[in-house]
Amino acid sequence: MDVRKRILNLREEIRYHDRKYYAENNPVISDYEYDKLMEELKKLESEHPEYVTPDSPTQRVSGQPVEGFSSVKHKIPMLSLDNTYSSKELLDFDKRVKKFLGGGNPDYVVELKIDGLGVALVYENGVLVRGATRGDGSTGDDITSNIRTIKSVPLKLDLSPKTMPLANCEVRGEVYMTKKGFDVLNKERAKKKESLFANPRNAAAGSLRQLDAKVVSKRNLDIFLYTLSYTKSGEYKTHTQCLNAMKKVALRVNQHIKIFSNIEDVIMYCNSWENKKEELDYETDGMVIKANSLEQQKRLGSTIKNPRWAVAYKFPPKRVTTKIIDIRVQVGRTGALTPVAVLVPVRLSGSTISRATLHNEDEIKRKDIRIGDTVFIEKAGEVIPEVIKPVKEKRTGKEKIFIMLKKCPVCNSDVVRPEGEAASRCVGLSCPAQIKNLLHHFASRHAMNIDGLGPAVIDQLVNQQIVKDVSDLYNLKIDTIANLERLGEKSAQNLLDEIQESKKNEFSRLLFGLGIRHVGRHMAKLLSENFSSVDELMHAKNEEIEKIEGIGGVVAESIVLFFRDEKNREIIEKLGKNGLNMESKIKKLNVLLGKRFVFTGMLKNTQGLRQNQLLRNWGEVSHHLSAEMLILLLQEKSRVQSMRRQKN
Ligand code: IVH
Repeated sequence: MDVRKRILNLREEIRYHDRKYYAENNPVISDYEYDKLMEELKKLESEHPEYVTPDSPTQRVSGQPVEGFSSVKHKIPMLSLDNTYSSKELLDFDKRVKKFLGGGNPDYVVELKIDGLGVALVYENGVLVRGATRGDGSTGDDITSNIRTIKSVPLKLDLSPKTMPLANCEVRGEVYMTKKGFDVLNKERAKKKESLFANPRNAAAGSLRQLDAKVVSKRNLDIFLYTLSYTKSGEYKTHTQCLNAMKKVALRVNQHIKIFSNIEDVIMYCNSWENKKEELDYETDGMVIKANSLEQQKRLGSTIKNPRWAVAYKFPPKRVTTKIIDIRVQVGRTGALTPVAVLVPVRLSGSTISRATLHNEDEIKRKDIRIGDTVFIEKAGEVIPEVIKPVKEKRTGKEKIFIMLKKCPVCNSDVVRPEGEAASRCVGLSCPAQIKNLLHHFASRHAMNIDGLGPAVIDQLVNQQIVKDVSDLYNLKIDTIANLERLGEKSAQNLLDEIQESKKNEFSRLLFGLGIRHVGRHMAKLLSENFSSVDELMHAKNEEIEKIEGIGGVVAESIVLFFRDEKNREIIEKLGKNGLNMESKIKKLNVLLGKRFVFTGMLKNTQGLRQNQLLRNWGEVSHHLSAEMLILLLQEKSRVQSMRRQKN
């Protein structure tokens, strides 16, 4: 047989089996036989590359990772659905629809709301030419190569004379991951010590965002299509006719679709799915109710965000009761302390819950949650379970009230809760829970600018307990650094040089680098203009800091609390001993502001006091002032200041 013909036949055959397998769940050949067909097609195509076309089943996985996604403007905006949560709201929806249509009894189609990611697929002459994400509704990402890896997406439609109107169309649907696929993926990731996906929806979203289609092809994504968003023909009169036509051309449409002629039946049907949904192998977060007539849909139109002809009905979150054994405090990477309820393990929406976040101290007080309480736990679409409220009737009197810790459970530094903030925080500069974050910030461009101190190096330095706080960076030896993984001798020396160089940084950079809460770059600069040294700032009282224009009470308090911590002071002292610049030159110049100086002789030794800085800071310059004289003046000023401090 002619090779080209054989290739075409094979493709037809494979497409037919894809449809049977993926769209209809009804395979008619074994996997083995299917693989044989595929193998033969691949072989013929590799021998005759001139016959390879993008719609061939062999072309699902593009070998080349793409650079990034390009944007796609949607022909018709991709709106989202308005949500309802009760029968009452559904009755209101029905009333609104009827009022808008001026009477009549619209038929409603009820579908499952698939919990995945909305996508739009464009077919031209029956061939898939584009797949795009919803994006902001008007522009999405072009994810064609990823969509092509989803086996249930036909690369070519199974057109017949009757379904010809679909040859050029856009359909929309939801890409999702099955519960099983999600479990398998997370188990694999756990084995490889990779971060876990929180739920199947996130896993599907994370997968579609992959730039390498090869990775996507291994993720077992699937699709349900639920809207024929564009065709040229006016052939179809109802939404269900569209869905049927879509099914006929091998587009995968969900089977649980029903038509009702009154809203009461719609409500009953929706409620019947509340428990039944657990039996499905994919996640649904509700039902979607749509007016079936396309003419009515057109008349109802949409608001800027939502169509008026459809609405989502969200399932109420699952609730169970269990007991709080203890409330423990976790320290996050940024130092925030989060109370977490330790629970008697309980099953909820398919997983076992043994911990639930309590957010913060106020939240616990507001809900009056105590250790030993029986509580309601809910999982509202999110994976993180929430403690809703205690069952007060079950109290025995032995329950204990939670009190936030005064010392960090990880490093024993002070715990502070600045006024107006909900979170309590550990201020420890050497807190192991925060140290990686702190080092990352300390080394960042606008702080100490130690370029070579990236996440991989930080990880090793901290994990091997070489660096326990920022001051340890300045005691690093070349041998220690060169021994780190993926760091050659040259990079090690560069890193060491950068660390040495950073000692000379302006004082404001160090202040910023310490990561004191609310002390950003601007604040650090302001402080360095008003305090001549870390020592001076460390001993400053709230009022002294607050006096500075642009610095409020919250910032002042945060600074005082930071320096009050004994361990932080020790680290600062070590930084000073290591030769870091702990003094502010700007401040020294600023004390001269508004004064009038007579310059005598030339400025020979400027010692870093650049002339332009002098000119900027001095109101009037008449003659020359010797550098020696200037330094004498500065010393005098700082002597007076320190005397003043002692008096205070
Ligand atoms: S119809 C105007 N039907 O839920 C939007 N959407 O905001 C018409 N979804 O963005 C969408 N299952 O991604 C429709 N059976 C279904 C659906 C469904 C899931 C998603 C869709 C939409 C979101 C709601």
